[in-house]
Amino acid sequence: MSKPANVLFVCLGNICRSPTAEGVFRKLVARAGLQDQIQIDSCGTGNWHIGKGPDSRSQEAAQKRGVDLSALKARQFAENDLKTFDYVVVMDRQNLADVKEIWRQTGGTEPTLFLEYGRSGLAEVPDPYFGGEDGFEHVLDLVEKAGEGLLRDIQERLA
Ligand code: 4NP
Repeated sequence: MSKPANVLFVCLGNICRSPTAEGVFRKLVARAGLQDQIQIDSCGTGNWHIGKGPDSRSQEAAQKRGVDLSALKARQFAENDLKTFDYVVVMDRQNLADVKEIWRQTGGTEPTLFLEYGRSGLAEVPDPYFGGEDGFEHVLDLVEKAGEGLLRDIQERLA
């Protein structure tokens, strides 16, 4: 790979889905030996959880699959992210609408739905925040699959 790639995962709160995606993708990238070429971050469109760590249910579910989310801290999406990141991948259609509204005004990287890389037949990663334990497992299943697809896409584009 000749050029670095910067990837930003976006959800609403940055305490469930996007930190899970960040942690899972970090692991996939490290396994491929590409951690020096691919920069990874996550954020939320909302501001409620700024500075907080991921939801304990997300951390526990991820830990069971060998993914440690404990060092992550929530931050809010910023306009400048569309200039900084080459891939801005969002979890659901509301995230897409919110980030696209900014993108239409500022340009930069066009946001896309993360699951477009996942071939799961789903368009959105469902928000697990108000649901039960199985929602967190489902998030992991979806982001693992989409993460593999995204990594393949980056490897092909930058090869
Ligand atoms: P996330 O989940 O967007 O996957 O981080 C949520 C976390 C918190 C809230 C909503 C969604 N909330 O309303 O506080």
